Amino acid sequence: MNGILDKWVEIPIKKLEKFNRLQTYKKMEELNIEISEEILMKKKTKSNGQHEFIELPKTTRPRIVIGEVIEKLKKIPEKSIDVIITSPPYWQQRDYGEKGQIGQETTSEKYIQKMVEVGEHLKRVLKDSGSYFLNMGDKYVEKNLQMIPFRTATEMQRKGWMLRNVIIWYKPDHMPSSIKDRFSNTWEPVFFFVKGTGKYYAPEYYVNIDPIRVPHTSNGNSRSDLPLTLSEDEYQKRKDIIEAQLTLINGKYQGKFKGHERNRGASPGARLSLFGEYYTKQRAHKINSESETKIIQYLRRWRGKRNITSKEIDKLLNKKDTAGHWFRLDHGRSLPRPEDWLKLKKILGFDDGYDKIMTETRYVLQTVKPHLKGKNPGDMWNISLERLPDAHFSIFPTELPKRIISAFCPPNGMVLDPFAGSGTTGKAAMQLGRRSILIDIKPEYAKLIERRCGLRKEKTLPKFLDENETGD
Ligand SMILES: C[S@@+](CC[C@H](N)C(=O)[O-])C[C@H]1O[C@@H](n2cnc3c(N)ncnc32)[C@H](O)[C@@H]1O
Repeated sequence: MNGILDKWVEIPIKKLEKFNRLQTYKKMEELNIEISEEILMKKKTKSNGQHEFIELPKTTRPRIVIGEVIEKLKKIPEKSIDVIITSPPYWQQRDYGEKGQIGQETTSEKYIQKMVEVGEHLKRVLKDSGSYFLNMGDKYVEKNLQMIPFRTATEMQRKGWMLRNVIIWYKPDHMPSSIKDRFSNTWEPVFFFVKGTGKYYAPEYYVNIDPIRVPHTSNGNSRSDLPLTLSEDEYQKRKDIIEAQLTLINGKYQGKFKGHERNRGASPGARLSLFGEYYTKQRAHKINSESETKIIQYLRRWRGKRNITSKEIDKLLNKKDTAGHWFRLDHGRSLPRPEDWLKLKKILGFDDGYDKIMTETRYVLQTVKPHLKGKNPGDMWNISLERLPDAHFSIFPTELPKRIISAFCPPNGMVLDPFAGSGTTGKAAMQLGRRSILIDIKPEYAKLIERRCGLRKEKTLPKFLDENETGD
């Protein structure tokens, strides 16, 4: 038995001697269900009025927390969650019959405000490396689509969330509809938020999409077996053969952008279609941001010593608005190209310390090679609906949280669904070996979740849920 339970059982046993409460609470603990009766709540409130935190689950068995979302979020320790995945009640869609339920607000504005408020509590419990996936449905009022999900997302952005994607969950088996004066609705958005850290160029959230990459349908666009990179020496030695091979390959290109160069955009595929395959000379060494900072500080010192301005350097190098970037430490910074480094060296007269990493180059083949592990799945997710006869609300298919958890929850990480319903998120987390916390306002759903997650053997019904119920 763990510590938190020891504290909680003390009072009820004394007060309710007739019942074998201790056993009941033990069972609750085993089932990972939070004990939320009034009497226990009192015990859990510290003398300073602050709530004690719930204990985070140590195994993949989801911890079910029954109660109003904001109240329960207050009891989750700060920055303890890796990924939040949820689908709150949609506005004016369903009455869950619970005091404090969300979705019954009189106006959409009030509903949006409530969701933004929940978002603020979620921000507190989410790690800085965490992410928040919010699936929301919309609503027509007098035939007018309210755009509730998007209005909520905009408000969330105003509150400092960074919106990374709007994933379209397309339902290939969507409900048939008899509507004749507009198109039927076949998808829902899933907003992918991260915490705004103020460093947009280096967001710090955890992501690894490798587990959800999809297989390539072709071999990519490269038609040669030329090496992806070549050292300066290798390139010079084989130059004639390489160029002959490239001419041969490029001669076969039917570039669809030829004659329409201006429209080619920036994609590697379009560049390829226009210019074919070719090598570009690039710096051979990867310079991480820490080394970059060191190099820039070094340049700043030398510029100070020589008492010369960036403008004067530009002039000497016959450039415009370039040198200034080499001395900046903010996100507008850049390092001099290898050839510029040597010229700058002459002007400032610094030593050879960084010459190697700044000037060594290699040749890189410009082509579109498929990613070895498959392609990025993109933001349009085609996932069939899942139906659950005993859930009186719409559930999302297990595949949806599974995809998200696989890519955004580190191994052994913690997933939270603050509007758990039937516990789909918990089921997905369990299947993927992640821990989870599931909050829902409706006590009956605890049983549903347990069944869904395969935690419930009908015979070991915990009596405390409802002493009169049979279990279904
Ligand atoms: C759309 S359902 C979630 C379905 C879930 N994604 C699934 O796959 O089963 C929304 C849930 O939010 C719960 N809920 C409504 N208001 C709440 C509140 N204020 N606090 C906590 N849960 C609430 C409802 O009881 C309902 O189970």
